[in-house]
Amino acid sequence: MTIKETDSLDEMLIERRRELHRHPELAFEEKETTAKLKSWLTAASVTLADLPLETGVLGVIGGKKPGPVIALRTDIDALPIAEQTGLPFASEVPGKMHACGHDLHMTSMLGAALLLKERENELNGTVKIIFQPAEEIGEGARRVLETHLLDDAQAICGMHIMPGLPVGTVGIKSGPLMAGVDHFIIDLNGKGTHGAVPEQGDDLIVVSAQIISALQSIVSRNLSPLDQAVISTTRITAGNTWNVMPDHAQLEGTVRTFTEQTRGKIEQRMNELVTRIAGAFSVSGKVHYLRQGPPIVNNPQLADLAEEAARATGLKVVDPEPTTIGEDFAYYQKQMSSLFVFMGVSGNSGLHHADLVVDERAIGKSARFFAALAEQLLNKTE
Ligand code: NI
Repeated sequence: MTIKETDSLDEMLIERRRELHRHPELAFEEKETTAKLKSWLTAASVTLADLPLETGVLGVIGGKKPGPVIALRTDIDALPIAEQTGLPFASEVPGKMHACGHDLHMTSMLGAALLLKERENELNGTVKIIFQPAEEIGEGARRVLETHLLDDAQAICGMHIMPGLPVGTVGIKSGPLMAGVDHFIIDLNGKGTHGAVPEQGDDLIVVSAQIISALQSIVSRNLSPLDQAVISTTRITAGNTWNVMPDHAQLEGTVRTFTEQTRGKIEQRMNELVTRIAGAFSVSGKVHYLRQGPPIVNNPQLADLAEEAARATGLKVVDPEPTTIGEDFAYYQKQMSSLFVFMGVSGNSGLHHADLVVDERAIGKSARFFAALAEQLLNKTE
């Protein structure tokens, strides 16, 4: 396939994006999506690696000239949301929707693949483009890494659409961009009693209230005012009726942080508060602190290269606000230097919203940006 005019590339990518948008598939069920991506890449003679996963695709471009291996990444899964955009190409699958822009991510990276394929003989190294399954459940990146097919990659770049940024802009940040995501469950156990005779047992409801309030002191009193974190208790379960004190209470919630140090401090302080407050009321308190995705911390050199690539492809660079939302792209950075950017799409609504409509001109722009960035990376990676 030859791409003579940029207009025709843009139009083709928009058409394919609509095709993907009509047929969203949830995490690890992206079979049709995988088949479509494979056929589009194969039609452009892009080599496909033998990815030992049921869904997802790995395209390999370059290798004609010696040089490093770098990677581009897109996610491919949709969400269990019933679309309410009224678009002519709205989801045809009841209760499922590409409401997180992964259809735009896929077609942006597909476009980058086609552009890089045209320059394959000139590339100083190899570009691997991973179409990763199951981002929404935080599993896909780890499964891809377990295949070891990215072991030779020295750097990886990825994107997320950002509805709040206008089309034609890209948010590039050196350092922390997206939060580490943790999940906590707190179990309190004591002696139940009649609601009329509290002195004969324990009141786990009162203890829960003390703990929930105290958890809010961690961010305000134990972290530096310049540090950022969120602790949200999102569920309380205790008791069954109006006149009995329960013997068990459970609290659940999430912690979002931008550095491993803050993360460690919060986990430690949460344990102290829960065991000591529970101890003060002579009940037992235990924290189950479940670490999920780490924070995304962008490599400064890659951020500089991305700014150059943005300028070269006519995108305006803006400094994005970090977000407390998490992304499983963060797992890749444990193994290679990484950069994640926010692409402006002039959205009418937020991510994961049923009425989200975006400006599709962002796709061609992202494709050219990532193709330029990949070439820069090949040229500048030692
Ligand atoms: Ni997403």
